[in-house]
Amino acid sequence: MIKGIVLAGGLGSRLRPLTKVTNKHLLPVYDRPMIYYPLETLRRAGIREVMLVTGGNSAGDFLRLLGSGADVGLDNISYAYQEGERGIADALRLCKRFADGDRIVVILGDNILEDDIAPYLREFEAQPSGARILLKTVDDPQRFGVPVFDHDRIVAIEEKPAQPKSRYAVAGVYMFDGRVFDFIADLEPSARGELEIADVHNRYIAQGDLRYNVLEGAWTDAGTFESLFRAGEFVARSRNEAQGKH
Ligand code: DAU
Repeated sequence: MIKGIVLAGGLGSRLRPLTKVTNKHLLPVYDRPMIYYPLETLRRAGIREVMLVTGGNSAGDFLRLLGSGADVGLDNISYAYQEGERGIADALRLCKRFADGDRIVVILGDNILEDDIAPYLREFEAQPSGARILLKTVDDPQRFGVPVFDHDRIVAIEEKPAQPKSRYAVAGVYMFDGRVFDFIADLEPSARGELEIADVHNRYIAQGDLRYNVLEGAWTDAGTFESLFRAGEFVARSRNEAQGKH
């Protein structure tokens, strides 16, 4: 059984002053706190056991909001606390004991996606080992992790490249086998002082063991004013469509 991990640490500095007294992932996206969306993506895909990594001053608020996880349809939520803002791979490092050698699916706490990820998880389960990432074409790849292709094979992931080598962004949903924690233990902080998830992906690429799918539905992060606004609009639109209103 694949375990789920939601990463909701970091300081949300790009959203100040909204994040001065609260955590970015507790901010509203239309009618729900941001953190509900990645949790719902996991739940919809059949994941029942989740670890949530958070940090900063409002960590206790996640416990008040989510408790055991029953209200959001999960069997159990475990919590971990990340000091500072040392990177996505640093936050993931804290989940080693939770994962306990099992396969994991990781979702960033500010990622909102339309797709049901269950089919991608099934493909991941069917692969003998390695990692799987999800891609989406975007207009502004320089804001994201960007894959470099040789035909249809990914040969590298570049984090926020000034000159992106493809039109794809790496979405914040990652599937890893148990080796991910060995790769993280080996990482050095990048120039911006973070343990980079792109470096973890590059380790899998070096082993010839990174696969991918391209997302079909809408996807956005919500870590900047612009993307937070777009995320709210997107959710409002899909709720109204679901109710037959336009
Ligand atoms: O949204 C997808 C993008 O997310 C990827 O394309 C990039 O490769 C990846 O690096 C990331 O880029 P961002 O610049 O958007 O990352 P950000 O610092 O905003 O962090 C995204 C989430 O990761 C954040 O909402 C919570 C979690 N996080 C981040 C950091 C730096 C942590 O839990 N701890 C951290 O220290």
